[in-house]
Amino acid sequence: MKLIIISNRLPVKVYGTPGKYRFARSEGGLTTGLDSLETEMEKHWIGWPGIEITQTYLKKKITKQLANKDFHPVFLTSKDVEEYYEGYSNSKIWPLCHYFFSLIKHEPSHWESYKKVNQMFAEAASKVISPGDIVWVQDYQLMLLPKMLREMFPDISIGYFHHIPFPSYELFRVLPERAEILEGLLGADLVAFHTFEYMRHFISAVERVLDLNFELDQVRLKERIVRIDALPMGINFDLYYNSILNPKVSRIADKLKKNYKDHKIILSVDRLDYSKGILNRLKGFARFLENHPEHQGKVSLFMIIVPSRDKVESYAELKTKIDETIGSVNGIYSNMNWTPIHYFYHGFSFEELCAMYYIADIALVTPLRDGMNLVAKEYIACKRDTDGVLILSEMAGASIELIDALIINPNDAAEIEQAIVQALEMSKEEIRERMDWMQRRVSRQTVNKWAGDFIDELMKIREKNHSMYSRVLGDSALAKIKQEYHNSTKRLIILDYDGTLSPFHPRPEDAFPTREILETLQELSNDPHNKVVISSGRDHHTLEQWLGNLNIGLAAEHGAFYKSDGKWHKNSMQKKWDPEILTILNQFVEKTPRSALEVKETALVWHYRKVDGWLASMRVQQLIEALVTPCTRDHLQIMKGNKIIEVKHPDFTKGSEVNRLLNEDNYDFVMAMGDDVTDEDMFFALPNNSTTIKIGTFSEYAKYNLLNQTETLPFLKKLMAL
Ligand code: UDP
Ligand code: G6P
Repeated sequence: MKLIIISNRLPVKVYGTPGKYRFARSEGGLTTGLDSLETEMEKHWIGWPGIEITQTYLKKKITKQLANKDFHPVFLTSKDVEEYYEGYSNSKIWPLCHYFFSLIKHEPSHWESYKKVNQMFAEAASKVISPGDIVWVQDYQLMLLPKMLREMFPDISIGYFHHIPFPSYELFRVLPERAEILEGLLGADLVAFHTFEYMRHFISAVERVLDLNFELDQVRLKERIVRIDALPMGINFDLYYNSILNPKVSRIADKLKKNYKDHKIILSVDRLDYSKGILNRLKGFARFLENHPEHQGKVSLFMIIVPSRDKVESYAELKTKIDETIGSVNGIYSNMNWTPIHYFYHGFSFEELCAMYYIADIALVTPLRDGMNLVAKEYIACKRDTDGVLILSEMAGASIELIDALIINPNDAAEIEQAIVQALEMSKEEIRERMDWMQRRVSRQTVNKWAGDFIDELMKIREKNHSMYSRVLGDSALAKIKQEYHNSTKRLIILDYDGTLSPFHPRPEDAFPTREILETLQELSNDPHNKVVISSGRDHHTLEQWLGNLNIGLAAEHGAFYKSDGKWHKNSMQKKWDPEILTILNQFVEKTPRSALEVKETALVWHYRKVDGWLASMRVQQLIEALVTPCTRDHLQIMKGNKIIEVKHPDFTKGSEVNRLLNEDNYDFVMAMGDDVTDEDMFFALPNNSTTIKIGTFSEYAKYNLLNQTETLPFLKKLMAL
């Protein structure tokens, strides 16, 4: 079994000119983090090497060199880079997911390119994937890939991790391609985010855009379930913690300490990106200098900015503004012996970076939005025997875990200023105490743990999907059921009505039987060997009106009423409904537009099929809470059904109806079909050798599954046919 990681970038980038190509480590949390993953699985990586190479022999040469590390390059042309990478990925999805609405560029050709390049990745991956492999797609550049791979390899495990924030539905909905993007992601078995907030936004977008319903953290598609999770990414803690033991790192650190021995060092490390809050940070630092002249000459900000996406207009503009602001602050405050801001616009080696982390008194991490921010975690990990204070933006995913940092709102320059002062004045004991807590957290939630948790979860879901899929009623199961049916002479066939024989309608009264339903039931009941019973939650008047002319048994209100030998019988004594319960339900109808109350003799049903999804889920919880006390007092049951909440007498269920029917006669073939939670009672009550078929979602107790309600009547017809 191989682990195949697919990301836009490989962990190494190629640079230089033809004939003199070199390899360097790619910057950015995704690749630095995942590259340090240690796993016993054979790890392959598919991605772009970060440079345009046109000549075939050079492509072959680089492919061969990278193959030594099990890296498989996807070569992009400069047009692909412009339209897919700089365009759709970084001028549309990136600003959208980071709430920079005004920077979004809509350009149809970018979308076309995004689709094309995702397809190129799918093709490259298909050459590496073997059955049983785990495929792990990374990040927003490849959101269509899970579905593309699922179509090519229906049975493999596919996971997707979103490394950046997922915005609220109100923002996500502006994307014209929103449905395709979400469908693309749902090709995975597991879709995960750094925090539960991004997960919550994603679930709400899927529910609203694709009109799907989640059951907590999972959604059932036609042939499988997809689970959503929040798994915060970590770093290779030991690698950073032990880095100072590396002579190269300690040499650099010693030199830095010597050069800046009388100074306090504030460090910031980012890719050039407007989401990183670099200008806000400069504003906060300038305020600090202005309002605290006592610190002038003693505190310096080391600002490492790694060039990134500089061909994208908004990035180029940001670069100019940063240069200007730094120039202006240094111009005002510098003196012969001291420069307030040391600005580096290039990447640093791992060793140099670790040395900087090691000596810095403060790390100033101020993104306006950031999926996670690994720099914050790396700073903490490097503090093996030195100390430091982390100032961290509440808008970074990392702030959910690192609560012992000084948490600031990066939009407030005064807060940044105050945090710097607080950090400078903090006692050694407090600094150590905070650092201890954070180190404990960062050393536990490592990149290995993160990836391990992701893969474990992915395997569990795949297993579940496999076992469910094996229950889908295919040709061989049909042949078996047919054989049992035709070999038997005394058959009991119990069918649910709504969602099984008839599709759901927005207005329940519109679900009256079609001609096809009536003819199928007629044909089924014409066979003298068959006893056909419709077992429904509907009231007996409706069933009588719709199906009373047929020669079949009817059971209404979950078995509280049943029709046998042409006559209706009532199982329970009629009882007046408790006025308190009726009042509660009526209040919910009033305050929930498009909901309705159905009053039956043995049950009260609150219908919310047409209600807005978010409002409905809130009302369901509120209603259940409001009903618990009066229902407990009256010995009534509260049940959740398909877009309904039902209050009923507990004595009669579809299960009790099954027992009544089985006691009437001896059958040599028993079959039940149903789609809802209440049908589980009937599947559970039936003997093991019965044929139990769940429609739509998978069931714990039914042997078989028909994926769609539209398959019920064709199935019944095939069953009867010789
Ligand atoms: N980084 C690097 N060289 C540098 C500066 C930064 O390799 O000169 C790395 C840094 O160690 C970190 C990553 O770039 O692992 C940045 O990740 P982060 O999650 O903070 O932000 P992202 O770039 O992913 O938005
Ligand atoms: C963030 C994104 C990654 C990306 C990285 C570097 O971490 O989540 O997907 O690789 O930034 O950006 P770049 O555009 O240089 O690959």
